[in-house]
Amino acid sequence: MASPKTLEIVTATVPVLEEHGVAITTVFYKNMFNEHPELLDIFNETNQKLGRQQTALAMTVLAAAKHLDKLATLLPQVTQISHKHRALQILPEHYPIVGKHLIGAIKEVLGEAANDDIIHAWTEAYDEIASVFIQIEHGMYEAAMWQGFALFKITKKEAVATDIAAFTVVPVDKSENNKGNDLANAQEIDLSKLTLTAGQYITVKTDPKDSDHIALRHYSLCSASTDTGIQFAVRRDNRNEYHGLVSNYMHDQLEVGDTVLLSAPAGDFAINQGLVQQNEIPLVLMSAGVGVTPVLSMLEAQVLANPKRPIIWVYACQNATHHAFSDQVEALLEQAETVEKYIFYFESGQILDETWLATLPKPADIYVCGSMPFMESMIDGLVALDHGVDSVHYEPFGPKMSLGG
Ligand SMILES: Cc1cc2nc3c(=O)[nH]c(=O)nc-3n(C[C@H](O)[C@H](O)[C@H](O)COP(=O)(O)OP(=O)(O)OC[C@H]3O[C@@H](n4cnc5c(N)ncnc54)[C@H](O)[C@@H]3O)c2cc1C
Ligand code: HEM
Repeated sequence: MASPKTLEIVTATVPVLEEHGVAITTVFYKNMFNEHPELLDIFNETNQKLGRQQTALAMTVLAAAKHLDKLATLLPQVTQISHKHRALQILPEHYPIVGKHLIGAIKEVLGEAANDDIIHAWTEAYDEIASVFIQIEHGMYEAAMWQGFALFKITKKEAVATDIAAFTVVPVDKSENNKGNDLANAQEIDLSKLTLTAGQYITVKTDPKDSDHIALRHYSLCSASTDTGIQFAVRRDNRNEYHGLVSNYMHDQLEVGDTVLLSAPAGDFAINQGLVQQNEIPLVLMSAGVGVTPVLSMLEAQVLANPKRPIIWVYACQNATHHAFSDQVEALLEQAETVEKYIFYFESGQILDETWLATLPKPADIYVCGSMPFMESMIDGLVALDHGVDSVHYEPFGPKMSLGG
């Protein structure tokens, strides 16, 4: 428990640190990577280059510090971040490194204004916040289906839409690491013993030739079934003249028979289990583009568990060639008793807006996944239409949030 003096100093200095957020973050990463270049194999290089997501870590420490006397109230948000940390294999020994460089950056940016009392208070605050993360992540490591990264072999690679490839992978013996890379510090696992949860994601560890560093990326499961292996789908991420590092590597360099390293499924984007067996509140699955992946696995899970529950399927994409998994979705919807299906092709001028959202029934149990602009407009629209925040669930394919308040 932080001392009253620490609480007082931290509360009084949060605003000035927030004001210098970008400067602190820049100094923090620069010094940390200088001293620990090995961390460049964990952090997303593209995010670093673009200055994207850079402030999430440091700003979340500041936001959490505002709640230092009641950190337990932040557990839901901490848990979401910790899922990502566990998936990326962030370990307790990483926390003092971040702490040292974060406090060092505060000192450097504030200069003489950062007196000993302030530095001492922030050190105490960081340690307290870090210990909450470490504790939650400890539980996640214990519960994880496997530790570290396990080696899998690609048994199927299939185009499911323009620029989207679906992969099926099965665990392999380490000796089958035919890439000859040194990534295979891996644990062997038994597919038949895995219990996947619809909505979760796995994390791929790759060593693309176009990068000096190892690159980690998350991909949502397309199915919770392990009958044929673990399934996920990757969209080529080429939004501008720069090409997405890992997605293009997966499309161009990895073929059936190649191996890839995965960390165990993570994430808490999952169907509310309390509603799966009832038939009054419909399940609404809304997605756009490759955002279909986690909701496809949810559709399958719902149909298998209770086909009587009404399902509303809403999908948006550019045009028919970008329409991913249409046959699989159709086959699953046929198994459900009460189905509504709505497809929007942006290129044809079909708009999914608040007027359309107003046609959805209330109450509804709603799951949304797609690009950030798509999700923001869906979530804002649904909340404006009085769908309670507890009934609107979402998974951004980027940073989820920093701690509010
Ligand atoms: C929980 C979660 C689940 C996800 N599930 C899926 C999924 O199921 N399927 C899926 O396809 N994705 C999914 N993603 C996204 C995925 O993890 C990757 O972010 C995505 O594949 C892009 O990675 P990349 O390495 O190809 O691109 P990056 O190299 O990270 O680049 C990202 C974007 O930035 C652009 N860019 C790169 N360098 C520059 C530069 N110097 N200047 C300007 N722009 C640049 C690229 O063109 C690209 O559009 C998920 C993400 C999360 C967090
Ligand atoms: C109390 C300390 C920490 C806080 C508050 C924190 C907070 C965050 C937040 C908010 C995110 C974004 C989550 C999202 O994508 O949804 C994040 C991501 C991440 N964190 Fe942490 N973090 C902490 C410690 C650490 C440590 C010790 C490491 C490892 C050295 C680390 C490595 C990462 C990485 C690699 C990402 C993914 C972002 C990227 O690759 O660009 N974090 N963290």
